[in-house]
Amino acid sequence: MPSSRLWRLLLLRCCIFLSAVAGAEHETATNASSKSGCPTFSRPAAPCTSVWSMRPSQVDVVLAVGDSITAAFGARGKRGGFHESRGLSWSIGGDEGALTLPNFIKEHNPNVTGYSLGSREASLCWGPVCRDVHRARHDRLNGALSGSMVRNVWFDQLDYLEAELLALNVDVEKTWKVLTLFVGANDLCLVCKMQKRFDPTEFAEYYRRVLIEIRSRFPRTLVNVVELFNVSAIYRATEDQPYCRGVHRLVFLECDCAFGPESEARPYRDMMDEMATAYNQQVRAVIRDLSQVRNETFAIALHPFTRDLNITSFPMEMISTLDCFHPSAKSHGLTATALWNSMLTPPEKRLRNIPSLTLEPLCAGEDSVFYPGSPPDAEVVWKDGGTEGYVEGVVQAMKESKSLLRTG
Ligand SMILES: *[C@@H]1O[C@H](CO)[C@@H](O)[C@H](O)[C@H]1NC(C)=O
Ligand SMILES: *[C@@H]1O[C@H](CO)[C@@H](O)[C@H](O)[C@H]1NC(C)=O
Ligand SMILES: *[C@@H]1O[C@H](CO)[C@@H](O)[C@H](O)[C@H]1NC(C)=O
Ligand SMILES: *[C@@H]1O[C@H](CO)[C@@H](O)[C@H](O)[C@H]1NC(C)=O
Ligand SMILES: *[C@@H]1O[C@H](CO)[C@@H](O)[C@H](O)[C@H]1NC(C)=O
Repeated sequence: MPSSRLWRLLLLRCCIFLSAVAGAEHETATNASSKSGCPTFSRPAAPCTSVWSMRPSQVDVVLAVGDSITAAFGARGKRGGFHESRGLSWSIGGDEGALTLPNFIKEHNPNVTGYSLGSREASLCWGPVCRDVHRARHDRLNGALSGSMVRNVWFDQLDYLEAELLALNVDVEKTWKVLTLFVGANDLCLVCKMQKRFDPTEFAEYYRRVLIEIRSRFPRTLVNVVELFNVSAIYRATEDQPYCRGVHRLVFLECDCAFGPESEARPYRDMMDEMATAYNQQVRAVIRDLSQVRNETFAIALHPFTRDLNITSFPMEMISTLDCFHPSAKSHGLTATALWNSMLTPPEKRLRNIPSLTLEPLCAGEDSVFYPGSPPDAEVVWKDGGTEGYVEGVVQAMKESKSLLRTG
């Protein structure tokens, strides 16, 4: 049994999770006809010339940045201990037989490189002290660190990826890349404690910085941006499990705002959801802004399959038995399938939910491409046209509901 200090250290700031997406049809991708799998197509003789027409077989390198969800903390549950099973990570894992984005791509290009393998002890990035944390050899181009917030990505994680590309002998100028970005759950988990520092406008400015840095450091990259979901619902999803109630009481610091005492945490959870919505809206505005000029060597694909995802009634098999908080291996597989399907679906048809816990992967056709771009509702910006006063408003509402709870 780890000491309580170790518990705190390991779990603090680790983050949440969730899943994903889409099965819409379009011109070239089709449903898998049976468990015999999908046909595969070899690389066309002509090289890829634009990020707007990149086929699965033309992806040379996969990369990812983010938090413990991308590090796959706890994915193997209690039996995995305090480990990150990075080889199972939805967006960047490459363990044999795992449902992951790189493994879907590998079927079309066995030479794709950069995916993580195996499992290792968790290393923790903690707010301002995320530099020089332990990196394992098989992390490869998984730059995610458990505990990361959006402010940690652009230097801690992108610097690591730059060095690692060099170490792996990847020709950064010539190779075509897919980088998946999913971050913000740890920001949401602290939003009730330090509101000023977690303002949606500030969140979006860090996000913009990350995207601009990716554009300048990693040419020929399609960036997958996956929206945040209402993380706080993990509380409801697990509250009727006595074991989980105990774990949350013990290690509520993992997500302070969701797992505090019931009398306090309810308004905090509402606040987290309001903020998740605001963060997503702000990030969509940033992406719209950065996508105004078409670029043949850099594009962003916005994936909303998490936006309306309601994890309140998610079965326990989707949630790590280690901490009743992180995604299970099964969740990683589902999210990977949702992402793959969303990438093969034109932006205007992308789903905003995961329609089924047994979602089947689409089969890529010979001419299928990974579509960049955002669904049309990326036009929607934060409704008041700004966030001034927003945080104060939420804090006020929170105080009011707190006193309501007390009196009622
Ligand atoms: C795939 O199957 C789903 C559910 O049966 C269906 O709604 C969808 O239209 C199918 N898509 C294609 C491309 O055939
Ligand atoms: C993979 O790389 C090897 C060595 O560079 C090459 O011989 C082989 O043709 C490549 N395979 C595919 C499917 O591109
Ligand atoms: C297009 O992307 C490349 C990197 O792939 C970047 O160097 C260049 O500045 C971008 N162009 C514009 C107009 O943003
Ligand atoms: C997420 O939270 C927002 C803000 O409270 C709410 O409007 C939305 O309906 C929630 N979505 C889901 C799927 O729970
Ligand atoms: C989410 O699911 C729960 C339980 O199934 C339900 O009570 C709640 O209304 C749902 N929330 C939304 C926003 O649909």
